[in-house]
Amino acid sequence: MTQNEAIVVLDYGSQYSQLIVRRVREAGVYSELVRFDADEATIAALKPKGVILSGGPNSVYAEGAPQLPDWVLASNLPVLGICYGLQLQAHHLGGKVAPSNDREFGHAVITITAESPLLADIPSEHSVWMSHGDRLETLPAGWHPIAVSPNSPYAAAADEARRWYGLQFHPEVVHSPYGKQVLHNFIYRICECAGSWQPSQFIQEAVERIQQQAPSGQVICALSGGVDSAVAALLAHQAIGERLTCIFVDNGLLRRGEAEQVSRTFRDHFQIELITVDAAEEFLAALAGVTDPEQKRKIIGEKFIRIFEREARNLDDAAYLVQGTLYPDVIESTAPDRNVAVKIKTHHNVGGLPADMKLKVIEPLRMLFKDEVRAAGLALGLPEDWVWRHPFPGPGLAVRLLGAISFERLETLRHADAIFLEELRAAGLYRATQQAFAVLLPVQSVGVMGDYRTYADTIAIRAVSTEDFMTADWARLPYELLAKVSSRIVNEVTGVNRVVYDISSKPPATIEWE
Ligand code: XMP
Repeated sequence: MTQNEAIVVLDYGSQYSQLIVRRVREAGVYSELVRFDADEATIAALKPKGVILSGGPNSVYAEGAPQLPDWVLASNLPVLGICYGLQLQAHHLGGKVAPSNDREFGHAVITITAESPLLADIPSEHSVWMSHGDRLETLPAGWHPIAVSPNSPYAAAADEARRWYGLQFHPEVVHSPYGKQVLHNFIYRICECAGSWQPSQFIQEAVERIQQQAPSGQVICALSGGVDSAVAALLAHQAIGERLTCIFVDNGLLRRGEAEQVSRTFRDHFQIELITVDAAEEFLAALAGVTDPEQKRKIIGEKFIRIFEREARNLDDAAYLVQGTLYPDVIESTAPDRNVAVKIKTHHNVGGLPADMKLKVIEPLRMLFKDEVRAAGLALGLPEDWVWRHPFPGPGLAVRLLGAISFERLETLRHADAIFLEELRAAGLYRATQQAFAVLLPVQSVGVMGDYRTYADTIAIRAVSTEDFMTADWARLPYELLAKVSSRIVNEVTGVNRVVYDISSKPPATIEWE
């Protein structure tokens, strides 16, 4: 990015590292997460006006624990250390950090004990989110405490002359209600940033970069129906016009009207060259009789790759592939020391593209967060209902239809799902939930319709609120809405006589049922 100023966040492996970057950008200043050991030239190119040291899972004394780079110690930039970051500051400047038996974790109330620009405009007592093992025992020379908590005499500390600050708590998480103000103070009062960064600025730069990356030849882009690939395709189209061809594979596992909407938007509205592959029968044949969810994912992933390859080969001089990779994925793949989450579902290899294709990959969104992609989408004219669309899993309805997949059962699910989403939108609650959908269960039960006994299918409806899809709570939808959805589904969808609402949070449940 050719911005004039940035806050650099050095990544020490905290699960919250990328949240710090998001908060800084939300405050109007460009920010990037870089490895703690990134070289000085990488940092200088960002034109930093301040540095934030993230938290991390290590102890500063542990063998091989990541340390403070020399350039930070030598620089005149303001530095804010968060948790592990503060311990590093202390460790390198002659303070003392000690292991503590009492891990401090969760809410704590801190009291501001000295005036400091870092804590300006914040009530003297307020709640914060703590999460640390080691504790700071002695501050380095020149430092003094600016806030205390019942468990730590140095909840926040500063060397005002040098403009080095440290926090024992996490200002970047929502559980620290004044955390945004703390970061704002650091960015504006201490680093004296001007604050002119906006996600829309990114569009012109992205367009120019694509032109440089793909000066000639055909460029292809796989549309999924989601917002990321749509925005990536629109940027590429602005950059290289007719040299772009989009490919959309209709796998027969999509929601009602989805394939039509893709071609209406891209082919008719944006006039982008679009190849729609009707592969429903091929996918359904490959899935015949399969009930295991991981097996379904595997079959769908592989089939997609083969079909995509086939279509791409038909395009003569295709040399580039545009992908909608986002910043969180880039961060995850380069993070130091972050614990690799236990594999619960094989999410991210589905919809992956052939490794052996000789196409150069262009990732115009690789520095953006989801909310920034949405802002860019709006600025590029992508319709609002597309921009705010809930995420939809790569394997589609296959993982929302429990048991064996057939065209008839897919139609039942599509119909129920369309009714639920229609009513949710009509109630003005679509955007208040982050994901909402119907699931067709492999369970029949007894019912009564008119004078007849029925033995028919069950639909579960699920709606969740979540910040990051890692944890989620079930949405407290109004009873009236649930009643209407239930009554419409049993009346309008043939073969369904019962509707249940899923009231499980994640964890222990997951968002999808498979
Ligand atoms: P879970 O069910 O693990 O889902 O709580 C978290 C988020 O990931 C989506 N999801 C998938 N996305 N391929 C995808 O592209 C998959 O196989 C897959 N499985 C789950 C899910 O919709 C939710 O947004």
